[in-house]
Amino acid sequence: MQRQALLWKRAGRKIGFVPTMGALHEGHLSLVRQARRRADVVVMSIYVNPVQFGPGEDFRRYPRPFARDRRLAEQAGVDCVFAPLNLYGPGESTRVTEAFCSRGRCGDFRPGHFEGVATVVAKLFNIVQPDVAVFGQKDAQQCDVLERMVRDLNFPVRMVRAPILRDARGLALSSRNAYLKPAEYETALHLPRLLQQAAREGNADRACTRARTLLGKVPGLKVQYVEAAGNRLCAAVQVGSTRLIDNVPLG
Ligand code: PAJ
Repeated sequence: MQRQALLWKRAGRKIGFVPTMGALHEGHLSLVRQARRRADVVVMSIYVNPVQFGPGEDFRRYPRPFARDRRLAEQAGVDCVFAPLNLYGPGESTRVTEAFCSRGRCGDFRPGHFEGVATVVAKLFNIVQPDVAVFGQKDAQQCDVLERMVRDLNFPVRMVRAPILRDARGLALSSRNAYLKPAEYETALHLPRLLQQAAREGNADRACTRARTLLGKVPGLKVQYVEAAGNRLCAAVQVGSTRLIDNVPLG
C-alpha cells in the first residue's frame, strides 16, 4: 500500500483517505464523497483495530461484512480499499498518546481508546500517505484528538470534518446500530431527540442539565455522560448492551 501511495504521489496525484472499521453505511459513504471532491485518488481503509477496544468491549462481535463493504466502497467511488489482516508486528511497543483532547467524555469511559485510535491513524497515515483525510463529526472527540495529533506531530495531512448522517427517524448512523433490537431502536431514538430539545436552552450548562434530566427519565437508556464541547452538546448512552454516542449544535 505504501509503495503504491508513493507512486501516486510521484505522478502528482492527490490522495484522499477515509479510514473505517467497515460495516459501511451511508455515513461512511458520505465521507468518500467529501474525499472525492478534494483528491484524485480515494483510499478507504477497512480495519477493526484491536488496540482501540477495551477488555469487555465489542471487538469480537464487531460486524465484518467484507464482501458487501467492498462492493459499497467501489460503488461510492473508492479507488483502493486497504484492508490489512493485521497492522501490529510482534513485539510492537510504540503508541501515540494525545494527552489533552482525550480527557473527559468518551476518554473517561473507554480508557486507552483514543491512544488506540491515534496510534492506528498515525500508522495508516504513514502507510497511505494522504494529502487529505476525512473524518465524521459523529465521533467529535475522535476528530478533536486526531486534529491535535496532526498539528502536534506535523503530519502533512489536511483534515476534513464531515457532518453527521442520520437515518429517516433521526438516529445517527453507526455500525453499532445493527446490534439494536427493534424495541431498543425505539429507545435509542430518544438520544438525538432529547439532545436537540435540550440544546435549545440558552447556555451550555443549562442544556447539559436539561439533557441529563430528560435522558435520565427514558426507561432502558443509561446515560454515561452529557457534556458541552466545541459549541456542541455531546452525549454517550447505553441501550441494552449497545453503546451509542451523538452530538448536536448548541443554541
Ligand atoms: P468507524 O466507526 O468505522 O468510522 C469511520 C468514519 O466514519 C469516522 O470518521 C466516523 O466519524 C465516520 N462516521 C461514522 N458514522 C457517521 C455518521 N453517521 N455520519 C458521518 N460520519 C460518520 O471511527 C472509526 O471507525 C475508527 O476509530 C477509525 C478512525 C477508523 C480508527 O480505527
